[in-house]
Amino acid sequence: MADDKGFCLWFTGLSGSGKSTITTHLVKELRKRGSKLEVLDGDVVRENLSKGLGFSKEDRDTNIRRIAFVADILSRNEVPVITAAISPYQDIRDEARQMMGDRFIEAYVKASVETCEERDVKGLYAKARSGEIKEFTGVSDPYEVPENPELVIDTESQSPEESAQQILTYLEEREFIPAGVAA
Ligand SMILES: Nc1ncnc2c1ncn2[C@@H]1O[C@H](COP(=O)(O)OP(=O)(O)O)[C@@H](O)[C@H]1O
Ligand SMILES: [Mg+2]
Repeated sequence: MADDKGFCLWFTGLSGSGKSTITTHLVKELRKRGSKLEVLDGDVVRENLSKGLGFSKEDRDTNIRRIAFVADILSRNEVPVITAAISPYQDIRDEARQMMGDRFIEAYVKASVETCEERDVKGLYAKARSGEIKEFTGVSDPYEVPENPELVIDTESQSPEESAQQILTYLEEREFIPAGVAA
């Protein structure tokens, strides 16, 4: 769409909180509306752009800085970006915010460790509890809850479809996307 505005929708939340699931729903809706869009999913980035990095604070920060660097390049060229990485540290999320200014939308994908552990989509929590995986966010590594996010997406009280709708409404209100066709 010619009047696409660049923005970076920055999801942050525990593993299994719903970042990738909600991203999939959003991408579908935004593409239906003809929006340009790029996605930087944490798992995908770690397979290529950040291949070889581990999970120490330093490596996590490097990973997130790389995602922010690419998201900034895209969004300042009017390509909307969704990032879906745990991004556990407030200071690095704040760096991304400073880089992108008004284009940056921090969206906290909220679900308790207990809920994520019950979901345990990839069996990672079980491995973290047994010690097979070290430095696992929420179990043996910190997660800093966003201090002042633009959006809080509560995945314990709403469905992925409802979360996607909440975000679309927000993007419309901010005029990042044109006011919508009914979903
Ligand atoms: N309301 C919800 N929003 C998002 N995901 C949900 C919700 N309720 C249950 N789930 C499930 O939780 C899991 C979230 O996994 P995923 O999206 O891969 O998380 P993340 O990308 O944050 O690690 C999926 O299996 C999804 O079906
Ligand atoms: Mg994911």
